[in-house]
Amino acid sequence: MEAQTIMRVHRRYAGVLAGIAVAGLTLMGCSSGDSGGGDTATESTSGSATDTAGAATEVEVFTWWTSGGEKAGLDGLVSVLAEKYPNVEFINGAVAGGAGSAAKDLLQSRLQANDPPDTFQAHAGAELDDYIAAGQVEDISDLYTEFGLTDAFPADLLDLLTVDGAIYSVPANIHRANVVWANPSVIEAAGLDPTATYATMADWFTALDAVQASGKTALSIATTWTQVQLLETVLISDLGPDAYNGLWLGETDWTGADVTAALEDFQKLMSYTNTDRDGLDWPDALGMVTSGDAAFNVMGDWAAGELDAESLTAGTDYIYFPVPGTDGIFDFLADSFTLPVGAPHPDGAKAWLDVVGSLEGQTAFNKAKGSIPARTDADPMEFNEYQQSAIKDFGSDTIVPSLMHGAAAPIAQLNAISDATSKFTTGGSDLATFQSELAASAG
Ligand code: GAL
Repeated sequence: MEAQTIMRVHRRYAGVLAGIAVAGLTLMGCSSGDSGGGDTATESTSGSATDTAGAATEVEVFTWWTSGGEKAGLDGLVSVLAEKYPNVEFINGAVAGGAGSAAKDLLQSRLQANDPPDTFQAHAGAELDDYIAAGQVEDISDLYTEFGLTDAFPADLLDLLTVDGAIYSVPANIHRANVVWANPSVIEAAGLDPTATYATMADWFTALDAVQASGKTALSIATTWTQVQLLETVLISDLGPDAYNGLWLGETDWTGADVTAALEDFQKLMSYTNTDRDGLDWPDALGMVTSGDAAFNVMGDWAAGELDAESLTAGTDYIYFPVPGTDGIFDFLADSFTLPVGAPHPDGAKAWLDVVGSLEGQTAFNKAKGSIPARTDADPMEFNEYQQSAIKDFGSDTIVPSLMHGAAAPIAQLNAISDATSKFTTGGSDLATFQSELAASAG
């Protein structure tokens, strides 16, 4: 089943998704004692660091990681930069707003005004293709050779980052988007078993009804982009990986009855959510779970970094499980860093890219960020309980690309889907209109 699913996916994804799953197995099998190869690679990158760091320079790093686990992850990279490149000053160009909700538009204006930062984060996959097609990022294939990165990442992840034989960014991590974070006490107080798992959306609705009857918010959510992410996970759950992938490859009919049924489930899920959602961002919605105001929240595993930053403990303070109906499926995305065309401090940017790709950089960053390293030589024992489970799942699950986080669809299509979703969830359209607008987003 898994192999068939992967076989039917677009050529680009096909290799990537199969290959990175295998790489996950490699990561899983790697113990502390096995990390010698990684150390060697790191030493050689440190050697080149000294040359580059000879002259003092700076690097403006553009992200949307401004607080909690996200900022802690960024800080991890900054500390490795300070160690390896003491002459490179870090300039924080971060713009607040989950999933780049404010940052991406600002970045676009800066790129169009020929005022790029020295490096910016972009998602591996269709989103990165947009920057490449617009001629906004440099081919950095040579840096892969210089920093010894060519063998550091799963070959098929690199394929997702490569266009026409050139490579344009360095991946920092692998995140999972289809995770439910839940409060076991709220679930128990609603008369439910906190260890229960839900095989389908229908099973979950029964539990959500019970929580709602207990007077708590059953499912917390925030502004539009978190609603789009919820939508993506419902589509994966109800359609299954093949048909979900088909949505992005022109092989699944957006107007079909199975998509209608998924949208009905999405509509029902939204009926369990907090009404102040459009004024919140993802940490607020997650906070409703940890404070005991809500039972469940669907969020990517940057939530694991946030929960760690708040010193909360898995199993007692919170529990996690795949979105009902997506067990065995890993809804994947990867953050990566670029060298923009016209970057004012290319040497600073190169130092940053070296750090992002290095074993120390990936370890420091991912430990705090909740994601897992993209490198295959990281030591799983360095990571927390959730991350170890993600490493294991990544090695065995069917991998599908995230819509909301740039892996599946170009920015223009995501924007059209976001507009349609916001219109629907704020009462501006009915389900039939919503479905036809989603269909139209495919172009
Ligand atoms: C994603 C990004 C993650 C995390 C998340 C929430 O787009 O890939 O690293 O930052 O947004 O802000």
